[in-house]
Amino acid sequence: MSPSTSAQKPNPSNTAAPVSPQRNIPIRDNPTHDPLTRPPVTPTTTRTLISNGFTINVERSPLRIFADADFAHAGATLVDEGSWPSAPADHIIIGLKELDDKNPFPLKHVHIAFAHCYKQQAGWQHVLSRYARGGGVLYDMEFLESEKRRVAAFGYHAGYAGAALALQAWARQMGGGVLEGREPYGHKSELDEEVRRGVREAMEKFGRGYPTVLIIGALGRCGRGGIEMCREAGLPDENLMKWDMAETAKGGPFEEIREADIFINCIYLDKKEIPKFITTDFLKQGQRNLSVVCDVSCDTTNPHNPIPFCSTPTYFNAPTITLPGFSSPPLSYITIDHLPSLLPREASEAFSKDLLPFLMQLPRRGEAPVWVGAERLYREKVWSMPRELRGEVGAP
Ligand SMILES: NC(=O)c1ccc[n+]([C@@H]2O[C@H](COP(=O)([O-])OP(=O)(O)OC[C@H]3O[C@@H](n4cnc5c(N)ncnc54)[C@H](O)[C@@H]3O)[C@@H](O)[C@H]2O)c1
Repeated sequence: MSPSTSAQKPNPSNTAAPVSPQRNIPIRDNPTHDPLTRPPVTPTTTRTLISNGFTINVERSPLRIFADADFAHAGATLVDEGSWPSAPADHIIIGLKELDDKNPFPLKHVHIAFAHCYKQQAGWQHVLSRYARGGGVLYDMEFLESEKRRVAAFGYHAGYAGAALALQAWARQMGGGVLEGREPYGHKSELDEEVRRGVREAMEKFGRGYPTVLIIGALGRCGRGGIEMCREAGLPDENLMKWDMAETAKGGPFEEIREADIFINCIYLDKKEIPKFITTDFLKQGQRNLSVVCDVSCDTTNPHNPIPFCSTPTYFNAPTITLPGFSSPPLSYITIDHLPSLLPREASEAFSKDLLPFLMQLPRRGEAPVWVGAERLYREKVWSMPRELRGEVGAP
């Protein structure tokens, strides 16, 4: 680890801020099922943080979309992969995904991550009590809010990637094929070009026009990304149906989904039950064009999932599941819950840029509303567990 303060430079815009060891941020690597990992702090934002007096330690990683050397050039100190547990207790640890649970030792640090333990997910108490027992704190990135809006999210690139896969699947299925496994794209322009070419070739070969696409949740982050991809692929606006709350208020299932070639679901499903958008029974009645569903929302295990047949997750190595009993055209769905990994570079850059202003507030996290709110939520969640799992965490 680099020493706490020796690498710090004066911060002209914030000279009153205390030089605090909290400013050391080792970015831990995040080995997950993602083929290339997306760091929540990129070389670009590392450079800005360092020029504002932060010290950034980055774990070496062969899996990250950005090379170790890019972080080193940005001024970060490279440290060994997996070394974050031995970082001084006052370092803040940032990583994208939940921690490895093979050795569930108590956590002494402040962690900023998507920990997936606040919505009573399987094993949530086990995960959360690690922070409480170790005297650490969890600032869960999914719940960092400013003025009731999430400060950073991956939705736009999830929708963009989901629409790209849906268009590619549609093009393959036109020729009787199935979309083969996908690898992350080093640059968005490569994906754009591949999707445009695939759609164009399918149209030429099978003598038809652009597909029609219905996007529900079109006003949200994922929806906006989906629309943008469709436009990038060349689809004219009249082929894009953009629905949100107003259009689904009449209740489903919807004829318009059956008639579209592609349906992309991008809604944020809250706890309320809503009418099903589409069911296999409904699809079997009447004329059907629909051949690809991309469920970006991916509520596969939620009992209120408005697309009940999208109930099994899919992965980049086999993106689609073909539904039995449907032919001419075939019907497949995509339910990948880590879609932004298709575009790890752009997704990380966008996320990190949005997070940056709030990372800059970390030295004042005792008073900055985003961090105060995140810590209050952490305490509330800890206090919803039995006494013996709460460690010494104070009441919310
Ligand atoms: N698959 C992935 O990799 C991935 C990645 C990121 C986010 N997501 C998921 O995508 C979903 C959307 O995320 P977001 O960031 O775009 O949310 P968001 O809040 O920005 O947008 C959601 C949109 O859905 C609309 N909506 C909600 N209920 C609706 C209904 N019944 N009918 C029509 N429209 C409705 C809202 O009005 C809003 O415009 C979330 O569930 C999120 O967890 C998936």
